[in-house]
Amino acid sequence: MAGKLQSLLPPILLAVAGLSGLLLLCVPTRDVREPPALKYGIVLDAGSSHTSMFVYKWPADKENDTGIVGQHSSCDVQGGGISSYADNPSAAGQSLVECMEQALRDVPKDRHSSTPLYLGATAGMRLLNLTSPEAASSVLAAVTRTLSQYPFDFRGARILSGQDEGVFGWVTANYLLENFIKFGWVGRWFRPRKGTLGAMDLGGASTQITFETTSPAEDPANEVHLRLYGQYYSVYTHSFLCYGRDQVLQRLLASALQTYHFHPCWPRGYSTQVLLREIYQSPCTMAQRPPNFNSSARIRLSGTSNPALCRDLVSGLFNFSSCPFSRCSFNGVFQPPVTGNFIAFSAFYYIVDFLRTVMGLPVGTLQQLEAATVTLCNQTWTELQALGPRQESRLASYCAGAMFVQQLLSLGYRFDERAYSGVLFQKKAADTAVGWALGYMLNLTNLIPADRPGLRKGTHFNSWVALLLLFSVLLVAALVLLLRQVRSAKSPGAI
Ligand SMILES: *[C@@H]1O[C@H](CO)[C@@H](O)[C@H](O)[C@H]1NC(C)=O
Ligand SMILES: *[C@@H]1O[C@H](CO)[C@@H](O)[C@H](O)[C@H]1NC(C)=O
Ligand SMILES: *[C@@H]1O[C@H](CO)[C@@H](O)[C@H](O)[C@H]1NC(C)=O
Ligand SMILES: *[C@@H]1O[C@H](CO)[C@@H](O)[C@H](O)[C@H]1NC(C)=O
Ligand SMILES: *[C@@H]1O[C@H](CO)[C@@H](O)[C@H](O)[C@H]1NC(C)=O
Repeated sequence: MAGKLQSLLPPILLAVAGLSGLLLLCVPTRDVREPPALKYGIVLDAGSSHTSMFVYKWPADKENDTGIVGQHSSCDVQGGGISSYADNPSAAGQSLVECMEQALRDVPKDRHSSTPLYLGATAGMRLLNLTSPEAASSVLAAVTRTLSQYPFDFRGARILSGQDEGVFGWVTANYLLENFIKFGWVGRWFRPRKGTLGAMDLGGASTQITFETTSPAEDPANEVHLRLYGQYYSVYTHSFLCYGRDQVLQRLLASALQTYHFHPCWPRGYSTQVLLREIYQSPCTMAQRPPNFNSSARIRLSGTSNPALCRDLVSGLFNFSSCPFSRCSFNGVFQPPVTGNFIAFSAFYYIVDFLRTVMGLPVGTLQQLEAATVTLCNQTWTELQALGPRQESRLASYCAGAMFVQQLLSLGYRFDERAYSGVLFQKKAADTAVGWALGYMLNLTNLIPADRPGLRKGTHFNSWVALLLLFSVLLVAALVLLLRQVRSAKSPGAI
């Protein structure tokens, strides 16, 4: 009896060896190593109305994978955007100190010197560079002086073009949602069938629309070709300067002063004094600027809660009179038909979310969005205050914002009900804020390779297949052997 058990031992051992070999091959190599070291990167998103700091982190050994970089922490800089310090540039640098001190704490000390730090400024600084290039460079010099004093690997403060802003937002969203490439269970990279998601960003001073398209680009300024993970993408992008939320509000205020002497988008019962200098100092309101105006004069303006007049005021922002291409969005800007699903973030999210959660209105169809906007614009100041007491500072301007979003999507970009049903209003993906900042860092640190990444396993694919075959043969041989031993043990009489 003992002898028979002993003869069973070798095939069993063989089977165990084959099985463990197979199992080891299926376990990603990183799991049998020490936990990977983390890497960090910091981006300061210097927007027109405020600056946000984002600290990102990722495991060092997987840095080429998609969806791996995520947000570690963030910080909102107190005060206005850096472009608001045009008259006192050094204060722009000083304004960043509090968040930079937080970054020193958020990133482990031994990682400080290897952590890249970027500052990217957007439409607020593009506008300042239009009106006063000297002021724009002094502000950039001031923030550069401040950021260079920190132990991070500071790689410069720059003004992004509208095209960059649009494309990096699109890269961020699709990277986080793993739409470019995905690592499958069989140990191979594949391109997910769902395709990429278009991106719509509404900032303080500009708005961007970016989506993958097969339509030929009629204007090279709107065409971007990308090669990510070995795949080519042909992307349409456009940034409308002066169509960000704050600039739109200034422009509506200027035309309300000009045509009505009251504000149809403001709630009835709301009234405030506006300083003429503040309205007309922006290049976006230049066309509406009266020839001589007293810049220190204040004018009192009251709201009237009039949805119809508000709609007329907002539609004055879009010019459909001429299009030099086969088709345009507005202002003579080429745009192919919107295709695929979209993610609408930043102020798109905040405005639509106000309708959804504070007002409790459905916004699932364009018709509902329009009806919700009319309902919001018909509220008196007392009614609004009762709805959203904590949103005091922006409360009076939600109607104008919603009217603008609704017209921009339906008339401007020409979303119909079908296309609109594929629009997601969302500010985060995979616990990370959606915006241009992450895509900007991924690009500048080469974290998205142009080529298809190889196998994630430590071994090459061919030798991995060979090992897989070897261990399988071993396992089968062991089982055959085992079966024969068991049979011979059962029939002792057989020869
Ligand atoms: C990432 O990709 C680059 C270029 O393809 C390569 O040199 C680098 O070794 C890769 N890094 C990792 C951790 O796989
Ligand atoms: C300001 O605008 C000019 C003209 O478009 C451009 O050449 C320059 O690079 C811009 N300045 C900065 C700091 O980006
Ligand atoms: C401009 O407005 C200020 C404040 O209302 C006033 O004190 C000043 O006299 C005005 N100047 C002119 C030239 O009207
Ligand atoms: C619309 O654009 C056309 C062509 O650019 C221009 O001539 C016209 O004045 C614009 N209309 C308005 C209302 O701005
Ligand atoms: C606005 O609200 C009033 C009641 O407060 C209602 O009678 C009116 O029909 C509403 N108008 C619109 C356009 O919804």
